[in-house]
Amino acid sequence: MDYLEIEGGHKLSGEVIISGAKNAALPIIAATILSDKEVILKNLPNVVDIRTLLKLLTMLGAKVEHNDTEAKIDCSTINSTRAVYEIVAQMRASILVLGPLLSRFKHCEVSLPGGCAIGQRPIDLHIKAAEALGAEVTLEQGYVVAKAPNGLHGTKVIFDKITVGGTENAVMAAAMAEGITEIVNAAKEPEVAQLCEMLNMGGAKIEGIGTDRLVVHGTNGKPLEFNEPIEIIPDRIEAGTYLCVGAITNSKITLKKVNIEHIQTSIEKLESMGCDFDIKKDEIMIIPKDELRGVNIITTEYPGFPTDMQAQFMAVATLAKEESLIEERLFENRFMHVSELNRLGADIWLKGNVAAVRPVKELIGAEVMATDLRASSALVIAALAAKGTTKIRRIYHLDRGYDRLEEKLSNLGAKVVRKKS
Ligand code: EPZ
Repeated sequence: MDYLEIEGGHKLSGEVIISGAKNAALPIIAATILSDKEVILKNLPNVVDIRTLLKLLTMLGAKVEHNDTEAKIDCSTINSTRAVYEIVAQMRASILVLGPLLSRFKHCEVSLPGGCAIGQRPIDLHIKAAEALGAEVTLEQGYVVAKAPNGLHGTKVIFDKITVGGTENAVMAAAMAEGITEIVNAAKEPEVAQLCEMLNMGGAKIEGIGTDRLVVHGTNGKPLEFNEPIEIIPDRIEAGTYLCVGAITNSKITLKKVNIEHIQTSIEKLESMGCDFDIKKDEIMIIPKDELRGVNIITTEYPGFPTDMQAQFMAVATLAKEESLIEERLFENRFMHVSELNRLGADIWLKGNVAAVRPVKELIGAEVMATDLRASSALVIAALAAKGTTKIRRIYHLDRGYDRLEEKLSNLGAKVVRKKS
């Protein structure tokens, strides 16, 4: 199995081009099911999760041509509506095919994803939305079986809790439904907004994009049509991760092709720790500080501080000169990186969903294990600042969501090598 060997303590410099956002690309790939013509996607990140979802579409019968950052997807040939366990178990986001399959084909069977490393992650809200739109949903042998023989009908969907994937599934289901669907307490993440904009390009009409109330005018069964290629937005989590790399290694790093508005909370937290920034239109340079102050973070939905940046900030906080407090409010088990960071010499104490990160003078390289995607990137960040060599095992998590990580880090002067054990 591959592992990463990182020799820490080197000052970095240079530029990183930020890739397209995995979490924007995934629902957009799922939404191509709503079309019976070819759709062209550009600026896809070259990561395993994207390939997994494209494989699922191929298994459903779609024709897919994929080349690095571009894909041509033709869903006119879909001849199955069953998303099998083999794929869904590998990647929870496969649940995103539920809404579009149901909307276009009036039935589908999607394997239940089950729990994962960061928490239980139920899909009850996805199911509730499908039912509100008129589907009959049953659970059969581990599969969610959804049927709407008379098609889906516009309705009011009220989410008890804000859910990114649930909102995306509801919007995709409503896009080809008959009539108007109002989605209340919708997620406002930029990835949800891009999905809505894409659906509008294809013929749906969605109002309230970027707000917590979306109004979707469905096409009444007419498949969507995309005449222009869709360019995936920059990955705000990848961008935030490289800012953390700059902060912890005390290095000036410039990020190119970023959306500054989407990374505002990461910028503000790093400013509160003492870092400065030189910001141009879609470019940002971090000007770090020798001594970082502590930081207080509470994860919450967009535009609040993202749970997907919690682990990386915790890594940076380990070397701050003051104590930091980090509270995780979205996922109950998203602290698997704590014990691994402590193996590198950090002093982090956990109580419930709050971590107290106490200052230490240095981190020291060790063998550690990646547990989920963002936890893994936190270990990379810590390893870059640690004295000596760190071996990070189970890096398939990183491969799921970070495009060309070693190449981008090596270009900045980091000593990172992928090895086989
Ligand atoms: C998306 O997951 C992202 N994944 C996650 O990114 C991200 O951490 C998360 O949103 C929160 O921002 C993708 O976009 C592919 P949710 P999602 O539904 O949609 C609860 C990464 O590292 N909930 O917004 O699955 C749920 O348990 C990943 O890139 C229900 O209770 O997250 C959680 O506590 C990991 N019932 C909260 O809502 C449901 O039916 C928010 O989850 C659905 C969710």
